[in-house]
Amino acid sequence: MCGIIGYVGSENAVPIIVEGLKKLEYRGYDSAGIAVYGQDGFDLVKQKGRLAALEERLKDRPLTGRLGIGHTRWATHGEPSDINSHPHVGSKGRIAVVHNGVIENYKEIKERLKRKGVSFASQTDSEVIAQLAEYYYDGDLLDAVIKAAGAMEGSYALGFMCLDEPGVLIAIKKDNPLIVGVSEHGRFIASDVPAVLKHTNAVYYLNDKEIAVLTENDARFYNLDREQIQKNIEIVTWSLDSAEKGGWPHFMLKEIMEQPKVLRDTIASAIGNGENKNIIGNLDIARFDKIVITACGSAYNAGVVAKYVFERLCRISVEVELASEFRYKDAIINEKTLVILISQSGETADTIAAMREAKQKGAVTLSIVNVVGSAIAKESDHCLFTLAGPEIAVATTKAFSAQLALLYLLAIRLAVVSGKLTQESERELRSAIAALPDKVTEILERVDFIQKFASNCVGYKSIFFIGRNIDYAIALEGSLKLKEISYIHSEAYAGGELKHGPISLIEENTLVVAISNCQRLYGKIMSNVEQVVSRGAKVLLLCACPNAEETDRLSTFLLPETHELFSPTLSVIVLQLFSYYVAANKGLDIDKPRNLAKSVTVE
Ligand code: AGP
Ligand code: GLU
Repeated sequence: MCGIIGYVGSENAVPIIVEGLKKLEYRGYDSAGIAVYGQDGFDLVKQKGRLAALEERLKDRPLTGRLGIGHTRWATHGEPSDINSHPHVGSKGRIAVVHNGVIENYKEIKERLKRKGVSFASQTDSEVIAQLAEYYYDGDLLDAVIKAAGAMEGSYALGFMCLDEPGVLIAIKKDNPLIVGVSEHGRFIASDVPAVLKHTNAVYYLNDKEIAVLTENDARFYNLDREQIQKNIEIVTWSLDSAEKGGWPHFMLKEIMEQPKVLRDTIASAIGNGENKNIIGNLDIARFDKIVITACGSAYNAGVVAKYVFERLCRISVEVELASEFRYKDAIINEKTLVILISQSGETADTIAAMREAKQKGAVTLSIVNVVGSAIAKESDHCLFTLAGPEIAVATTKAFSAQLALLYLLAIRLAVVSGKLTQESERELRSAIAALPDKVTEILERVDFIQKFASNCVGYKSIFFIGRNIDYAIALEGSLKLKEISYIHSEAYAGGELKHGPISLIEENTLVVAISNCQRLYGKIMSNVEQVVSRGAKVLLLCACPNAEETDRLSTFLLPETHELFSPTLSVIVLQLFSYYVAANKGLDIDKPRNLAKSVTVE
């Protein structure tokens, strides 16, 4: 996915766009580019590499203009290069465009336009948009955008400007996010709210196939039939601080440290502060005979944790499916299935597709989402919001923790409503959840131990994570976190599976991180620890057992005690910090790991 931004107003667009792109860089960082409407028409600078490289170029070639568009790219079509960077300008040089998404029929459009004599400069799918709009342009940019949209298949969030319409910025979206911001000095478009927060918290969320026509003092919205539509402005509660690094070396560390507050906010939003809010609203639990949880990456791992919690508390069968698999497997679901979708961004293409497949088969969909106004939040039948605030680091931390909290609370409520749990037990479990933020703080205060341990782990080629039951579920997240930011190979195994194969990988000085919060399984996981230690491994053990032993091959991090079902919330903090400090010691670009983008809006 890419990040797009645009501005039209009374100020110089260039610093506004560059600052905004900094907030969108999490969406892609293969290249960056900016085009402004300068004194003599379009001025364009595009540069392969990080935004910092574009900033360097802009020092040599300062631009000014009161209308402009900018882009930070995660390449899907055409290698990362200067020429493939956005903005793309049509061959007549009259229309410039930035694009987030994929134009699926770009080859056909390209061939058609080539036959009409249009010449192309890049290998991207996105260039066809600028060429198409120029082809259709007949003195009216809105008209050209509508016609171009009619010819394109795929997904897009687009910002357009036209040489013949100096004060006009036009945007349209389909399947990728786009907001319109309104400030005293101008109008903005952006892929995400943090890009405009410095200037305004008043935004419109564009729906699919809605068009925004913006000038310095005006924002008008149209449908594809060119009928004007009314939209409501919304006030975003995210603060500017929440999207700034604020003195921390990386967003990831800042976001790890924010988790006590995020948990408090999310828990309070779901159950109130003592007033017993009902998290499930009018959801009729009695109609379901199965729950399917579907998501990608870390959100999937949150789903695996949730499976243990739901099955234990609600005694209902739960399947957890990777959304990329679910969408193509012809899932056995119907109106008696509750499908839970988990997504920080609310815009992951596979999860959106899974949601649509579930709805089409008659299932009831409930989403857990962080980004208000996102596709999944809007389209699912029920939506619960994690109150994590903007999450900028590519590796998720605080949004994951907030997802877990909502999933616990959801499971508890469903268990009560379906008669599997007494209200008294519900109160007890809720107070265990309410105590989690302080326990997370306790762990964060012991960051030194983890930092020191991690500093000795940079040389490992492979690190294994083991756990049983719910500890296995969180081991999956520990392993994903480590590999995505430290580039160290890692795998998570259920402790009982070791002997069925993976133990052959254990050799002298392999590192194994063992997690043990299930008291009844403590002995079992300790046997696994002994097995790997006797084959030469070193072990970092996370557990709440005060008598856990320490040897030169076994280091222990003592977790605060909590209910076994909620222990992933504590284990994961140590796992996040461990990954963070391993990557930091390797000097890696933690917030923007290679090849990754924060949310994956393409297949
Ligand atoms: C998490 O650290 C990853 N960057 C990734 O696995 C992520 O969780 C996944 O892509 C799902 O994203 P979403 O929550 O925005 O849907
Ligand atoms: N398809 C466009 C490109 O490769 C945009 C990519 C995206 O939004 O992920 O440049």
